[in-house]
Amino acid sequence: MAKSVKDIDKKYVMNSYNRYDLEIVEGMGCYCYDVDGKEYLDLSSGIGVNSLGFCDMGWVDSVTQQVCKLNHTSNLYYSQPCAILAEKLCKRTGYDKVFFCNSGAEANEGAIKIARKYSFDKYGNGRDKIITLVNSFHGRTVTTLAATGQEVFHNYFFPFTEGFLHAKANDIDSVKALLDDSVCAIMAEMVQGEGGVIALDKQFVEQLRALCDEKDLLLIVDEVQTGMGRTGKLLASMHYGIKPDVTTLAKGLGGGLPIGAVLADEKCSGVLGYSMHGTTFGGNPIVCAGANYVVDAMNDEFLKEVEEKANYFREKLAQLPEVESVSGLGLMIGLKLKSKTASDVVKEGIKKGIIMLTAKDKVRLLPPLTITYNDIDKAMSILSTLLA
Ligand SMILES: Cc1ncc(COP(=O)(O)O)c(C=O)c1O
Repeated sequence: MAKSVKDIDKKYVMNSYNRYDLEIVEGMGCYCYDVDGKEYLDLSSGIGVNSLGFCDMGWVDSVTQQVCKLNHTSNLYYSQPCAILAEKLCKRTGYDKVFFCNSGAEANEGAIKIARKYSFDKYGNGRDKIITLVNSFHGRTVTTLAATGQEVFHNYFFPFTEGFLHAKANDIDSVKALLDDSVCAIMAEMVQGEGGVIALDKQFVEQLRALCDEKDLLLIVDEVQTGMGRTGKLLASMHYGIKPDVTTLAKGLGGGLPIGAVLADEKCSGVLGYSMHGTTFGGNPIVCAGANYVVDAMNDEFLKEVEEKANYFREKLAQLPEVESVSGLGLMIGLKLKSKTASDVVKEGIKKGIIMLTAKDKVRLLPPLTITYNDIDKAMSILSTLLA
């Protein structure tokens, strides 16, 4: 008898993911199907990646056309999809320049390098520490694990990159207590995603911006999960009325292909000179063609709809008797439950045909931004049974 995909995967793929008992074979919009043809309503977007849902036809067209035209070229040469994407991102966000890479962790590595080099150029050696927040998550490379403010990630892989200090979120005195002449930057997520879908307070974010201005520190905002419309604005920092010096993007930007981006303001967009940073696949034409489609799709009307659908969904969720509170921003939703365990609910959800995530002790929902009101109503009907 032929072995199942599950058996082959278990035997040959490294055991670093605790996979659910679900093999997804195809998808369209907010729905996907397993090997037996069973339908699932997706409220996870592949952890915030499929911003336009599964296989959006316009996105598929853009990618397919590019696949047939030019699959890859080195960064030693110019290519149109990369240049056009950079222009669009800068014009939409007000940033000066962008560096393309392949993932969120890599984007954060790039941001960290920019911060240290900016400071080195201006102040010389020794001003290289970066303050991040307790409960943050910035990636899985040795440096971004060190940046991540959760002790559970500081294990096994010693020695970690030096120079990261962790302050308490929403506590400016905790940040100030770590501040001395050796600090060059502060890095934060506007909504801590993996840490439990917790939005920072507006006043704290304003205080961070002011502190960075006063001390000439770079403010780096990690929008790997919050960026590209997830919260109802193109960038979550736009809710807070501040502009970080550096913003990192990944996940939803590519709409299903691997991309990362580091957006830098004029002040620091020139610090990485020739051969100081690079990556073979960064700005790949196919990936950029997909991202160009995503950025075009996220016009003002689209973002307004995301905000409205999010308000509708959040209000309904808050009315479920089992839900103690609804956290996050826009379509980045955390559900604190009264008596049920989040991981049990997610497992049970798969049986009932709905795909969700966890974040710490919460159920986390990151539905495709194209979710319809009908899909939300359907999700609510399944969830009200699941959480009864
Ligand atoms: C806020 C944040 N930063 C960085 C990362 C790492 O991104 P990637 O897995 O693409 O390296 C993640 C992934 O979940 C994230 O949520």
